[in-house]
Amino acid sequence: MAWMAKERIGILGGTFNPIHSGHLAIAKAALEQAELDRVIFLPDGSPPHKTGIADAEDRYRMVCMAVCQNRRFDVSRMELDRDGTTYTVDTLATIRTRMPKAHLYYIIGTDTLMKLRSWHCYEQVLPMCTFLVAPRDISCTREEISQEKKRLRKLGGTFIFLDMPFRNVASTQIRSSMADPGTDEEDLPAVSEYCAIRPLYGMPMRISQGKRWLDRLYLDLSIRRFTHTMGVAFTARQLALEHHVDPLRAETAALLHDCAKCMPLEQMQRLCREHSLTNDAMIMTSGNLLHAVAGAYLAAVDYGIQDPDILRAISCHTTGKIGMTRLDMVVYLADKIEPGREEYPGLARIRMTAHLSLEKAMLMCLEETASYVKSGMNRLHPQTLQTIEWLKSLPELNHPGPEL
Ligand SMILES: [Fe+2]
Ligand SMILES: [Fe+2]
Repeated sequence: MAWMAKERIGILGGTFNPIHSGHLAIAKAALEQAELDRVIFLPDGSPPHKTGIADAEDRYRMVCMAVCQNRRFDVSRMELDRDGTTYTVDTLATIRTRMPKAHLYYIIGTDTLMKLRSWHCYEQVLPMCTFLVAPRDISCTREEISQEKKRLRKLGGTFIFLDMPFRNVASTQIRSSMADPGTDEEDLPAVSEYCAIRPLYGMPMRISQGKRWLDRLYLDLSIRRFTHTMGVAFTARQLALEHHVDPLRAETAALLHDCAKCMPLEQMQRLCREHSLTNDAMIMTSGNLLHAVAGAYLAAVDYGIQDPDILRAISCHTTGKIGMTRLDMVVYLADKIEPGREEYPGLARIRMTAHLSLEKAMLMCLEETASYVKSGMNRLHPQTLQTIEWLKSLPELNHPGPEL
C-alpha cells in the first residue's frame, strides 16, 4: 500500500457575525504557514444570550459566499445544527471521529490563548490538536503570552504562532459601518450586499421582498452563482449612482439577472416554448444565452417584477441590444466586472472605463466577448455584432473623451 501523508486540517470556529477579510487572512496564513490541506470554517450556533447576532442561517450563507472561491476552504454546519451549548472538546471529538487519520489544527487568536485554561475540559482539549495562534490586539505583554504558552505546553499543548500583521478589522466595525450609510462598506462586497438586501445589522430596508428573494435565489442557484449575483447587484448599484441611473432598479435587475442560470437547458427551452418567449434558434440552443430570456420571464412571474425596464435589462444581459438604455448597460457591465469575476483579458481596463463612460466600457466589453467567442470557434449572436455597430455610431463614442 502506498504511503499516504496524514491530511492536515485547519479548523476556524467563530460566530462570523458577519465574516470579514480578517477571518480570511487568518485562514490563508494558517493554510500557508502550517502547510494545511484545507481549512474548515465552523460557524457556531446562535448563542441565545447574545443580542445583535444575525440568524445562524444568514451567518452560514455569508461564510459560504466568502469562501466559495477558494477550493481549500470548506464550511461545516456541524455546530449550527447541534442543540445546546457546544464545547470545543466535543467539536474536536466529533471531527476526530469523522476524520480519524487527519492531523487537526485549531486556529485561535492570542486573546483565546490567554483564556484557554478557562475552557470546559481544557486538559482534554490540549492534546487533541495543534493550536495555530493568530495575533490579536490584546492588553497582555509578549512576556505574559509566552509564560502562558509555557504553562499550556507543560499540560500537553502544542502551539504555532502565525507570522502575520495584526489586521485592524473586526465584525463590530463592519456592522457599524453597514448601519451608517456613507462609510466604507466594501470589505467583502458580496457579503455586504447580502446584508443590505436581507437587511441585517440595522441597515435600512431597500427592497421589501429582499428576504424572500434571497431565500429563493439561494435555493435556485449554486453558491458560486449566488455570490456572483450579490457581487453584480453591489456593482450595479455603485455604477448606477455614478452615472445617474436609478440605483434601485439597477440593483433589482442585477439581483435577478441570473435567476434562471442554474435551470437545466431543457427546462428553460420548455418554458420558452410554452410561453412563446423566443423563437431564435441560436438562443434556444444555448443555456448561456437562453437564461437571460427565461430569467426575465421568472422575474416577472415568480418575483413579481412589472417594470418593463428592469425586465428588459435582464433579458439583454447576454447578447446586448441595439438601443440599450443606460440601465441595461449598468446591468450588463456589472455582470462582467463584479469584484468576484475571474480575470479575463481587458478586465482591469473595462472596470476603469465603466466608471467613466458606460458606452465606451460597453463597446470594450462586447468587443472582448466577440474575440473570446471567435477564438473558441463559436458563433457570435448577430444581436451582439449589431450592438457593437450601434455603439460605434453613438455621439458619445465619436467625440474625444477622457484619455483612457
Ligand atoms: Fe447571466
Ligand atoms: Fe451573471
